[in-house]
Order: sequence, then C-alpha cells, then structure tokens
Amino acid sequence: MHASELARAGAILTVDLGAIRANYRLLAAQAPASTCAAVMKADAYGLGMDQVAPALADEGCPVFFTAHVAEGMRLRQLVPEDCAIYVLHGPPAGTAPDFYQYDLIPVLNDPGQLQEWRASAQRLGRALPAAIQLDTGMSRMGFAPADLAALSGDAGWLAGLDVKLVMSHLACADEAAHPLNERQRRRFEQLREILPGVPASLANSSGVFLGPAYHYDLLRPGAALYGINPHPGQPNPLRQAVSLAARIVQVRTVADGDIVGYGARYVASGPRRIATIGIGYADGWLRALSGHSQAFVDGVAVPFAGTVSMDSITLDVTGLPQARVAPGRTVDLLCAQQDVDAVAAQAGTIGYELLTRLGRRFHRHYVPCG
Ligand SMILES: Cc1ncc(COP(=O)(O)O)c(C=O)c1O
Repeated sequence: MHASELARAGAILTVDLGAIRANYRLLAAQAPASTCAAVMKADAYGLGMDQVAPALADEGCPVFFTAHVAEGMRLRQLVPEDCAIYVLHGPPAGTAPDFYQYDLIPVLNDPGQLQEWRASAQRLGRALPAAIQLDTGMSRMGFAPADLAALSGDAGWLAGLDVKLVMSHLACADEAAHPLNERQRRRFEQLREILPGVPASLANSSGVFLGPAYHYDLLRPGAALYGINPHPGQPNPLRQAVSLAARIVQVRTVADGDIVGYGARYVASGPRRIATIGIGYADGWLRALSGHSQAFVDGVAVPFAGTVSMDSITLDVTGLPQARVAPGRTVDLLCAQQDVDAVAAQAGTIGYELLTRLGRRFHRHYVPCG
C-alpha cells in the first residue's frame, strides 16, 4: 500500500473556494450596474484555475481573462460555454485557429495584432470578436494615442471585427490619491471616443475601490478575489483565500555559538532548539525572507533562524513544548496571524508575486463553498 500524497508532502496549501466566492460577491457589489469579470492568468494567481474558475462560474461570473492563449484553451474546458474568455496578450502569429476552436476573444494591443486579426477574419469569411486595449499612460500594452490617430483616418480600420470591449489598465490604482489614476481615466474617456457605444472596462481590483467613475461596464479584478488587499496600509475588506502549513522534518538542539544554515548567518546565543521544515525558496518561500520572517505554532511566532534553503527553512522553536514541535507536526506560514500581504512585505515584494510563486510540490487541499 502506498502512502498518501498528503503524507509525502513537505507543505499543505489550503485554498478556500468559499472565500474566493465571497470576495467575488463583495467586488461585484461595489458596482451593481457593472458586470464583474475574474482574472485567471498565471493559474488563477497560483491558486489553481482548474478549481477556482468553476467555482467563480458557479457564483455567476460570466467573463474571464487570461494572459496567454494556452491558458484560455485550458479555461474553456472549465467554464460553461456561454462564459466569455478574453486573452490579454492577443493572438500570437499562427494561433488564430485556437481562438476560433476554443471560442476565445483576443485583446488587440497594437496595429500589428489588429492587422493579423483582420486578416484572419478575411480568411475565415466572417466577423471575428475582439477587444481593443488603449494605452492611457502605463506604456505596457495597448494602442498608443499616436496609433489611434493614424488609424482614425481609415473609416474601415475595424472591418471584419466585432468589437466587444474597449479597455485600459491603471498603473497606480493601489494608491488611491495618485494623480495618474484621474489622468488615465480622462485619457480613457477621450481615446474611447473612437469606439462609440462599445462596452468599456478600466478597473482592476484596486480600481474597483476608486469609485463609480472608474467602474464602466466591466470590472476586471484578479488579486482581490484571492485575498490580496486592494488598498495597502488600510484594513483589507477581502477574505483570506489561502493558508499554508509546513511539516517539521527534524528538530535538534544547538549549543551557544553554533551556526545554523548557509553562510553561517545565524549564530546561537545559548542553547536553542532548531526545527527544520520542508519548504524552501524552490516552493516560493523566498530567500529574501531569511532573517525577516516567522512561522506560527498554535498562534505563537517562531522566527526563521538563518538562511532560507531551496527545500527547507530552520526555525528557532526554543521554549515550545517538545511534543508540539516534533518531526511530522506542522507549523503555519499563512494563517490568521500572517497573511499573504504580510509575508510579501517581509520579503520586500507584493502579494501577487508571493501567490504566483507558490510551489508545485505542496499538497493542495480545496475547501468547497459552505
Ligand atoms: C490588463 C489587466 N487587467 C486586470 C488585471 C487584474 O489586476 P489585479 O490583480 O490588480 O486585480 C491585470 C493584472 O495584472 C491586468 O494585467
């Protein structure tokens, strides 16, 4: 008889689908006159699109976004056929048949993509759906004002296309007072005049909380669905969607002056008990957390002792009951005392990066709604 996957795993990630569904409802409720989509790129921000997408479709989410066409193809197997799936990066050369076959809508970001997609429509002999992204100041993706000015002289610039959505993306929405928010919104207002009557979308998670002027027809949250705080530094209105526990592999006592871990960066001051847990930077628990983070044992903080290794982390568990910090027991890394944003801040990064790097070696446990 084989051991279970759970018994083999160094760490256990629990994803609360009920929390993700509750977050969807909370986001949608901010703009009752708009439709609320869900951004699924990077495997639903690391949490598992296979489980998250059906849960959100079941919650009534009718529109999804992926970054890549392959993500869209996978997503098409997971949600009802009347759900719209937009592919943010547009159609790479040669992928048009994937879009028709899987009923995906490309977001066209520049004149080159527009030309390609129009040629596809012509070859196919029917109008093809598309979204148009406008660059309102982030300079990452989307038609620049100069592109639009050049196109506006051509009355047939959208020939063969059925334009479903005009969108743009905010660069600083997580800083509500940042002047770029209003500048981008105004530019969006001006630029979208080239597509009269086409439904519009501007707000990501943080944008949803910038007020009704930013809502337009379609909200596009990702991070907030997964519990990331849309306004850093203020109370988080969303529910945490993930918890993470790592298994203790070994416990040892070190003497005064002993070192722990690579680079000998931790030196014991007096006898200490050190527990080694089975998670490391290969699992997304970043090396930058060395010396700056902690785990929790029944709500009590235990500091990282020394450098984070590829597959393990050493903790100072001195003073905790030996039976509680024995090999095989678990400690908490994401829990009520410490959320994704808090750990990300300790590593000098953002919750988005931490979530999307969560390891593939974890045992994953999905808690269904209710
Ligand atoms: C174009 C676009 N829209 C929406 C989102 C969702 O953003 P957030 O995760 O901040 O809600 C992203 C993610 O970066 C994006 O690139």
